Order: sequence, then C-alpha cells, then structure tokens
Amino acid sequence: MKRVIAFVGSARKKSTYNAVCQFLENLRSLGDVNYEIITLSDHRLGTCRGCCLCFDKGEEFCPLKDDRDVLIEKIMASDGVVLASPNYSFQVSAIMKIFLDRLGFAFHRPRFFGKTFTSIVAQGIYGGNKIVKYLDFVGYALGFNTVKGSCFTALQPMTEKEKQKIDRALARQSRRFYERLVKPAYPVPTLFKLMAFRMGRTSMRLELDDSSRDYAYYKEKGWFESDYFYPTRLAALKRAAGSLFDLIQTKRTRNRHS
Ligand SMILES: Cc1cc2nc3c(=O)[nH]c(=O)nc-3n(C[C@H](O)[C@H](O)[C@H](O)COP(=O)(O)O)c2cc1C
Repeated sequence: MKRVIAFVGSARKKSTYNAVCQFLENLRSLGDVNYEIITLSDHRLGTCRGCCLCFDKGEEFCPLKDDRDVLIEKIMASDGVVLASPNYSFQVSAIMKIFLDRLGFAFHRPRFFGKTFTSIVAQGIYGGNKIVKYLDFVGYALGFNTVKGSCFTALQPMTEKEKQKIDRALARQSRRFYERLVKPAYPVPTLFKLMAFRMGRTSMRLELDDSSRDYAYYKEKGWFESDYFYPTRLAALKRAAGSLFDLIQTKRTRNRHS
C-alpha cells in the first residue's frame, strides 16, 4: 500500500481542495493508495524570522515552535507528496510559502529521496504555469522524484467543457504520478541531477568545514565520497561525467580563491 499526503494552500475547500480530492481519488482507483489531506491554514506555522539558525546550527535551534516537525514527519512517513496552491498574485498562496520557508533548511540538506512528488495549481486567469514550474523545482530541490505538475483555470461558473478539460488533465497527472509511485523508488539520476549533486557537494567540500551544519550533514551521509545522494549504478559514461563535474567544480572553486 502506498501512502500519499497532500498539502493544500487554500483556506477554503473549493477549486484547489476539490482538484486535490479528485486527483487522490483517481490514484485510489489506480491501485492500493491511502491518502491524507492537510489544509495548511489549519496548522500552526510561524513566519520565518530569517535568523538562519536552521541553516547554520541546525533546524532544532529554530526559535519558532509550531507544527513544522509534525508536518515533516508526515512527509517522512509517506511515499508520495502533493503540494497544491491557488495562484495568489502570480505566486503560491502566503500559507504555502510560509510552509516552504519552514522547510528552508531541507533545501540545503535534502532528505525526501525515494518519494514521489507533484504539484497542482488553481488559478482565476493567468500566471499559474510559472507557479507549477516553481513548485516542481521545489520538489526536485528537496530530493523528491518529481512528476510534472499541472495548472488549471477555475473561473466560476464553469462550463461543462471546461470541467471535462480539468478532469482529463487531472486523470493524466494521476496516472503519471501513480506510475512513478510504483516504480523503483531510487532511479538512476539524470545527467542534470548528477551534475547538480557533484558540483554542489564538491564546492561544499572545498568551501566549508565541520563547523557548518550542511557540511556535517553531507559528511554523515557519506556524500563527499558517494556517486550520488543514494546508492545507484551509474553507466560508464555517467560515471565519467560525474568525475568531470567534480573536476570542473574543483577548478572553479580554486579559481575563486586564487
Ligand atoms: C488574493 C488573491 C490573489 C489572486 N491572484 C490571482 C492571480 O494573480 N492570477 C490568477 O489567475 N488568479 C488569481 N486569483 C484567483 C485564484 O487563483 C482563483 O480564484 C483560485 O481558483 C482560488 O482557489 P481556491 O478556490 O482553492 O481558493 C487570486 C485570488 C486571490 C484571493
């Protein structure tokens, strides 16, 4: 059985919430899936004060005492995650952004490997596709296996044709998500992902030391020596590309300091 958790960034149970319900019910019809929906505004989430203690010393030093860790535990216990938001002023809603800022340290120290991710954005008129791209990048940066998200226009009253278009798009997205959910959880990284990992970890190895929490995290995970974030079998060409990325970043970092 696969567990999916959806975070909804609208305080009302309308377009975004309904689309999420439809998406999750589609998943359930495709296989053995159990889900939970979290309306973010029902939870206590403080606004980041920018002290950077989570980055520098560790997330446990955050002065905000809210539901962050409860929500992270829910993600850790899931196989799949959906971030769904209405388009507010050409961005995610404020509560969704507050939630993402609460996860800020996890962009430095990614941890959601092996889990499937997607995004859903509801809009009135325009701007939602960029938000989908943003959320999908968030999913990637947090370590998820990201399935391309979707944006739909929910102008009321909706015609039957518009409703059918949304239904079809959500059905396609549910199928893509389900297929990823039941595939092996740790795919061989794409060249782009490999490059991002190798260059990131190389600059971290050369620029930071044990006093940095990010450095300590990478060290503890063995990421300064590993091929990728998780064990994987790289073909010869990708293995060579990985070494090349290490080399390029080593040169770039040394040049910065010369
Ligand atoms: C404060 C606010 C800002 C909005 N900004 C945009 C916008 O920039 N672009 C857009 O297409 N729709 C915008 N909308 C419309 C919502 O995205 C749209 O009504 C959406 O369906 C709301 O989702 P919900 O029904 O789940 O609350 C905005 C709505 C609100 C309340």
